[in-house]
Amino acid sequence: MAKAAKSSFVCQSCGAVSSRWAGKCAACGEWNTIVEEAGVAALAAAPGSGLQRAAKGKPAPLEALSGGAAEAPRIATGLPELDRVTGGGIVPGSALLIGGEPGIGKSTLLLQVAARFADAGRRAVYFSGEEAAAQVRLRAERLGLAASPVALGAETNLANILATLEQGKRPDLVIIDSVQTLWADGLDAAPGTVSQVRAASQSLIRYAKQTGAAMLLVGHVTKDGQIAGPKVIEHMVDTVLYFEGDRGHPFRILRAVKNRFGPTDEIGVFEMAGSGLREVANPSELFLGDRDNTAPGTAVFAGVEGSRPLLVEFQALVAPSSLGTPRRATVGWDSNRLSMLLAVLDARCGLSFSQADVYLNVAGGLRITEPAADLAAAAALISSLTNTPLAPGDVFFGEISLSGAVRPAGHMSTRLREAHKLGFKRAVIPAAGDVEDSGKPKLSRLSHLRDLIDVVGASRPKAREK
Ligand code: TYD
Ligand code: MG
Repeated sequence: MAKAAKSSFVCQSCGAVSSRWAGKCAACGEWNTIVEEAGVAALAAAPGSGLQRAAKGKPAPLEALSGGAAEAPRIATGLPELDRVTGGGIVPGSALLIGGEPGIGKSTLLLQVAARFADAGRRAVYFSGEEAAAQVRLRAERLGLAASPVALGAETNLANILATLEQGKRPDLVIIDSVQTLWADGLDAAPGTVSQVRAASQSLIRYAKQTGAAMLLVGHVTKDGQIAGPKVIEHMVDTVLYFEGDRGHPFRILRAVKNRFGPTDEIGVFEMAGSGLREVANPSELFLGDRDNTAPGTAVFAGVEGSRPLLVEFQALVAPSSLGTPRRATVGWDSNRLSMLLAVLDARCGLSFSQADVYLNVAGGLRITEPAADLAAAAALISSLTNTPLAPGDVFFGEISLSGAVRPAGHMSTRLREAHKLGFKRAVIPAAGDVEDSGKPKLSRLSHLRDLIDVVGASRPKAREK
């Protein structure tokens, strides 16, 4: 009895519970993440039951795999970009978690979704824990949505939220902005701590499953971009979406990292405008919009996100370094990948970057994770190093292995079609891999990275003495 009330120490990063405070979590190795929370042991011991303890169990009905609804019914949100990311719409009874940096536009997006739902005659309830009702109303006015019949509540107490939801017509969509502001009565911990967030999410998800209302939870992210609170919440919900973008750019990307009802490789592209988020149906044109073709160090990558081709510009700057250890910095690309690429260029092609600072940037605030971008990045680096502008009609894609071999990428034909549509004349692509050669764009096929130097017309630097 005394045990249940005893406080324990919970890592706010991974959720591990320990009996003592420590500076470093033994489970995940994070520093300064352990916080004292009361009564967590009891809660953790009875997951699923939330706050009350279950009595004697009663048998649950077991069912066959066949039968029942084959395809999850979906409600189209009226925002095709969001529907694309979720796999065709929001599944009733499902729980979605949307994470993103502060100010990126989560509240704006969700208010727009709620308004679309409400305008279609469905019941949408929006609980704002971060902003007062007047602030949300102000935003709605700015977005031109003030007339939409969205039910708005400014509430952070979990029990009150559930009681509100029980009243009146069953909602089709419930939005909680954000889970970090919620608190449950029975817990001593402060809002935003692991046990509060976990207990609140659990109750809300249970509510969604029982009633068939879709639950959209907003989650804060930590400074390294993870959704705050333990991974547990990502495991509990059906879908995890990240809303990302660079605040200096108007573009916002919605990305699924987990989806029980659809693909996880699709992205939705939005533009933050004065009147809210605008959908961008053809992102390639947008990301290539203001190209300066003549500068050395820029190369266009023919990428694919999900089922959609996406052409973006890679920009590299190789500048003499005055530092003992030259700088390497990337925006929108993995810096480990850049280090690998520089090592391959050095070891396999004889191009040395060891005396130079190297900067690599994906234009437009986009983050590229596809390995097929290696070739475009390499082309930009070679172009900047040798001060040779690339032909403005060239696009690149292909993965580069540590041996310097250029490996095939997926969706080659999709990439080529998009490149042709946008007026590119030549595609520099891997030698291997099936692709129908329509002659448009012209294909330059490479099997090794060293051939790239000739293909882009860069003068080969003097061979290094061994
Ligand atoms: P918000 O939705 O409040 O972000 P989050 O909930 O993720 O913290 O978005 C706030 C930002 O969006 C703010 O910096 C201003 C900008 N914004 C616009 O540019 N246009 C608009 O119509 C709105 C509502 C916001
Ligand atoms: Mg917000």
